[in-house]
Amino acid sequence: MADTIYYPSAEVCAQATVQEYDELYRYSIAHREAFWAEQAATLGWYKPWQQVLDDSNKPFYQWFVGGEINIVHNAIDRHLSGATRNKLAIIWESEKGQVRSFSYHALNREVCQFANVLKSMGVRRGDIVTIYMPQIPELTFAMLACAKIGAAHSVVYGGFSVEALAARIEDADSRVLITADGGYRRGKPTDLKSIANEAMQRSPSIEVCITVRNNGLDVLMESERDFWYHDLQALPIASPRCETEVMSSEDMLFILYTSGTTGKPKGLVHTHGGYAVYTATTHRMAFDIKPEDRWWCAADPGWITGHSYMVYGPLINGATLIMYEGAPNYPYPSRWWQMVEKYGVTILYTSPTAIRGLMRFGDRWPSRYDLSSLRLLGSVGESINPEAWRWYYDVIGGGRCPIIDTWWQTETGGFMVCPLPITPLKPGSATRPFFGNEVGVVDDAGNEVPVGEEGKLVIKNPWPGMARTIFRDPQRYAELYWGDYQAQGYYKAGDSAKRDQDGYLWVIGRMDEVLKVSGYRLGTAEIESALVSHPAVTEAAAIGLPHEMKGTGIHTYVLLKTGISGDKHLEAELKEHVARELGRIAAPESVHFVDTLPKTRSGKIMRRVLRARALGQDEGDLSTLEE
Ligand code: WTA
Repeated sequence: MADTIYYPSAEVCAQATVQEYDELYRYSIAHREAFWAEQAATLGWYKPWQQVLDDSNKPFYQWFVGGEINIVHNAIDRHLSGATRNKLAIIWESEKGQVRSFSYHALNREVCQFANVLKSMGVRRGDIVTIYMPQIPELTFAMLACAKIGAAHSVVYGGFSVEALAARIEDADSRVLITADGGYRRGKPTDLKSIANEAMQRSPSIEVCITVRNNGLDVLMESERDFWYHDLQALPIASPRCETEVMSSEDMLFILYTSGTTGKPKGLVHTHGGYAVYTATTHRMAFDIKPEDRWWCAADPGWITGHSYMVYGPLINGATLIMYEGAPNYPYPSRWWQMVEKYGVTILYTSPTAIRGLMRFGDRWPSRYDLSSLRLLGSVGESINPEAWRWYYDVIGGGRCPIIDTWWQTETGGFMVCPLPITPLKPGSATRPFFGNEVGVVDDAGNEVPVGEEGKLVIKNPWPGMARTIFRDPQRYAELYWGDYQAQGYYKAGDSAKRDQDGYLWVIGRMDEVLKVSGYRLGTAEIESALVSHPAVTEAAAIGLPHEMKGTGIHTYVLLKTGISGDKHLEAELKEHVARELGRIAAPESVHFVDTLPKTRSGKIMRRVLRARALGQDEGDLSTLEE
């Protein structure tokens, strides 16, 4: 645990919206429902709620029960009558340097058109629309259009591939898919539509596929199923006026699939009411959002960070957001810094992996640009190593900008542990709980472990942004997250952590089969099942090992079918196979051909043993190992 403490400057403190943490924190815990009701009251409701929190059916908590709201009413409609109407909502830059920008007024027209197109294709309230797109403005329009008409969206990250997309379409049983011909990455066009086509073959529930033209790639369109968005947009039905559907607080806003312990991804369900309140409040308070801010969340909307802090939270707060489609170091390692100067970015929110990736090119790239517009910096996805923290702080932030290190998860919807701009910082610690949350570091019995010792990270209370369930699998939700500490009613995060003498939390990492590779969340089981789908493979195990840039790198152990021998050629083929099935981000660093895998007597692969061996560490307790 680093011992240097970084105190915020007098200037930062003077500007801060929240001037004092302790007292407000105590209030938010003692009067949790009142605290959240006050926050909720800053949003627009069609009908006020009757009950802030309904905890009669634990762990299926409900928030703002009886209230009527639509998150789009808050993210767009409310801004149309005031000064925000003509403010820029989105500034988008493509890798090639194309710029498109949309005021709130223009955003509304785009979203209404998209909503009308969806309606004309038979999308109704309650439907689940799958979205598989590159990071272009239409991705945001599509998400907001679904929410506006009461349909739920299921966004699948554009870097995922056939099997990942097919499995998510199937689980959601989507009838409509929105995609694009493709995007760009490092100057080369990427092809999304052919991946979508293959996924639709594997998951036949899709009846309508709407394709946005982006990179002009020649793609296969199937008559009766496939439509170009620009053709539909030209029809009279695609009017730029559309009523926002009145939803109940607890109506489903979206599903987002994430990796867990099994091969089957879990669809976490988030709702209109609580999620709107939680993302807006956390974004406003932790990042001290001001009307003149230019907010850049350099994540992809395909992950929870993009949902909560690229789209919903910032738009509800009426911010101007920056969106960039492309690699951070293309064509030069100064691309981001050039954009910070060009757009006058005031807050940059990104991942430790991106910071490490840019740090490697040295100070000369950022030093060519004027980064003085920056006021705050943010980090998310994994613990930030002190070296990257200091570079971010000194070189990018010029020693002026507090780093808001936010710990949270797809399941939590928004920040759970994070500093405020006024909080003294320790590099590598996400500091203290956000308002309303009691965070514990406990042993298996649920007792707090002593200061400085490692324990399991738990949340001891419900919060408005919490996922409501796993789609179609409420039992798994109850068991997985709430089963271990049922008596106490604690939510188990799946991370291990320590708390120091100042009450600061230090997240150590995942305790389950989840890997955070470059901040992306992947499951060992998904990687293994992609390997096993190759005809040469009978069995496979995937583990994560430390990686200098990515945080964690994927390493695999493979048992081949009899008669097949492993060589360099097959190793390359298997890596490529995983990339093609699951996505490039999941491609292993190494493939080792082995004769046996360490297993328990009940047949479970002991990845812990593989890890220990790879790291040359003690293999630990081997009593359950077979043989
Ligand atoms: C990890 C991403 C340390 C953690 C928002 C968590 C972090 C998982 C941090 C969730 C952080 C996220 N410090 N670890 N600031 N932020 N994590 O669902 O292991 O993609 O459980 O959500 O990322 O990943 P997910």
